[in-house]
Order: sequence, then structure tokens, then C-alpha cells
Amino acid sequence: MTESTQTPTAQSPAGEHAATSVPATMRSAFHERYDAPEEVVSVRTVPTPQPAAGEVLVRVRAASVNALDWHYLTGLPMFARPSLGLRRPKRQVPGADASGEVVAVGEGVTLHHVGDQVFGEIDGGGFAEYALAPEDWWLPLPDGVSREQATTLGVAAETALQGLRDWGNLRDGQRVLIAGASGGVGSFAVRLAKILGASHITAVCSTRNVDAALAGGADRVIDYTREDVRDLGDRFDVFFDNAGTLPLRDCRKLLVKGGTYVSITAPKTKWVKPMPRMLSVPLYFAFTGEKAPAFKVASRSVADQAWLAEQVSAGRLEPLIEQRWSLEDAPEVLRRQGEFHAQGKSLIIP
Ligand SMILES: NC(=O)c1ccc[n+]([C@@H]2O[C@H](COP(=O)([O-])OP(=O)(O)OC[C@H]3O[C@@H](n4cnc5c(N)ncnc54)[C@H](OP(=O)(O)O)[C@@H]3O)[C@@H](O)[C@H]2O)c1
Repeated sequence: MTESTQTPTAQSPAGEHAATSVPATMRSAFHERYDAPEEVVSVRTVPTPQPAAGEVLVRVRAASVNALDWHYLTGLPMFARPSLGLRRPKRQVPGADASGEVVAVGEGVTLHHVGDQVFGEIDGGGFAEYALAPEDWWLPLPDGVSREQATTLGVAAETALQGLRDWGNLRDGQRVLIAGASGGVGSFAVRLAKILGASHITAVCSTRNVDAALAGGADRVIDYTREDVRDLGDRFDVFFDNAGTLPLRDCRKLLVKGGTYVSITAPKTKWVKPMPRMLSVPLYFAFTGEKAPAFKVASRSVADQAWLAEQVSAGRLEPLIEQRWSLEDAPEVLRRQGEFHAQGKSLIIP
């Protein structure tokens, strides 16, 4: 940062925290149209956002990369455009998870004060030096949780938690199969299945991720480049499918009677190809003895993020952080995310 123009802090409670100053401009990743990340993402100097009533501005110290960023960048699949933005992306600054310190608060904010350390899932904007969000989207950073750990506890961790606990109804003593066990969602799914009481976890990933999956708590790892999980002759109470590579008929055969198939992904193609898989899962299982909830998208939950942070603080959950990148690397990090072979979570440190 070389800018010298300063704007005053919007509001800071007298006597509690020293006022801080916020530069008028900041560095931010940005994209105005849909295309491959390396084609559309640039890092520019832009005006620093100012908090309106009820909003909190945070100096971002860590942000994490998600598959969600790839969807907002590419605008795919096309049928998701009403929510992604019809002609242009609604989110023009990537980054749904961020952590850092509060530098300014809007009128009426009571939950956070200037100087507080916070983290949260926001509506994009994390790949920038400063990020703005409503006050109740930010959570206080608990003792024993680093800012880097906290910024992994948004989209991917919530998806793994809601997928296993709510959609899979995972209970103590159950046997779990997790396909795509080494990326952002999968690395959390392995760890959370253990915390939620699974008695045995089978993880599916490629060769380079086998050791990480075992270290994360998997009891058995199937390297899909060498073995086929269908050849095990084993059946599971919950199949958390983060890869979506097997026909539904085979997914069903991997379940015990009454078992649950949770599908959170679909083919990454342009038009309607993801649709049949998404729609057919509940229909297919409706006529079997097994269960499969309709395709769901994880929702922002401050309660879930707080619970996840408690697990980290208590030493029960250690997020897998693959790499740390600078803000200028945003186009490359986002290009890599689009390959869907991440190892745990990648961070941007603006
Ligand atoms: N419904 C929702 O709410 C929701 C939320 C978040 C994400 N998602 C979706 O869930 C998927 C995963 O997201 P993510 O953030 O975890 O992505 P990610 O970090 O890129 O991870 C992708 C994972 O898929 C594995 N994989 C790739 N090809 C595979 C194959 N043929 N067989 C088995 N595993 C394979 C990768 O393992 P290797 O590298 O070892 O191959 C890696 O573990 C994405 O499709 C994303 O769009 C859905």
C-alpha cells in the first residue's frame, strides 16, 4: 500500500479502542465479466468501501479460496445465472471467507468494535485489503484459533458439517464413505465425520493425498487411481459424495439398507448437463430402501462457524491449509481452484 489519503473511522466506541484510519484506496482482486479466472481476474487499486449503517469494515489478514469463487468467475453452470448474476457476476470481488481486524463500523453497530479480531463468511470481497459485511456475518475470533485457521471455517467447512450432520444425519458409531476426501470440503468432511462420532471412515482420493487423508483421521484410504471403491465389497451408513463420479446405481450399492447418499456436486459443464444428476438423485433413491436428500447448497450459519471454531480452539479440529498466496497471485490461485484437485484449503494473504 502506498496510498496516503486517509478517511476517518466511521465510528469507534469512546474509550474502548483507539481510532484507526483507513486508506481511501485499497488493492483488490476484481472481475467484471464471466470467463476463465486467468482471463478475467485482475488486481487493481480501487476505492476502499465505507461501512453503511449496520456494516463492519475489516482489514483482511487471510481469505480462503472456494469452488464457489470458480462458479462466480465462470458463471457456470448457465442455469445458475439467476443467482450468480444474469449478464455480469453479482460478486465482482472473489473471496467468500475472510478474517482480520475491524477498522471501521457503520452507524448502529453494536456487535463489534474497532480493533476486534473477527472472521466470517461474506458475500464475496475477501480477496482485497478491506472487506465489508453486515455486523452479524462477522464472528469474534476465539482464543486458540489463528486468523488463517478461522478463514477456512466458512463455505467448505460449513458444507462438510451440514452435509454430514443435517443431510446425511450421521450418528455415533456409523460407517462413512467420503469421495473427494482431500480438497476443501473433503478434508473437513474426514475430520468432522470423526468428531461427529463415525466409527469408521473410508476416504477416496488420489495418490498424492493418501497420507494427508490418513493424517486427517481416515481409517482407510482408497487411491482411486489404483483401486475402485466398488471392489471393496463394503457397505456404508452414509456416503458423502464430493466427487460425483459414480453412477447412482453403484452409489446405492455402496450403502447398507436404509443408508444415506449425500451428493453435493455435479459435472462442471456449461449448459444443463449438471441438471439431470442433481434432479435424479432424490428421484432415484425415492424408490429404494436407501435415502438421498435433494441436492442442497450449504447456507451461511454463524452458529455452525462458531461451533467449528470451538472445535479448533479445543484442539479437536485442525484445518488442512495447503498454500498461502499473495493478493497478486489471485488469478493463478483461482485458475488452480478450477482444476478441482485442491489439497485442503488455499489462502490469500492480502
Ligand atoms: N452443494 C454445496 O453447497 C457445495 C459447497 C461447496 C462445494 N461444492 C462442490 O463440491 C465439490 C468439491 O468442492 P471443494 O471445494 O472440496 O473442491 P476442491 O477443494 O477442488 O476438491 C476437489 C476434490 O475432488 C477430488 N477428486 C477430483 N477428481 C476425483 C475423482 N475422479 N474421484 C474422486 N475424487 C476426485 C479431489 O481429490 P484429488 O485431487 O486427490 O483427485 C479433491 O479432493 C465441487 O464440485 C464444488 O462445486 C458444493
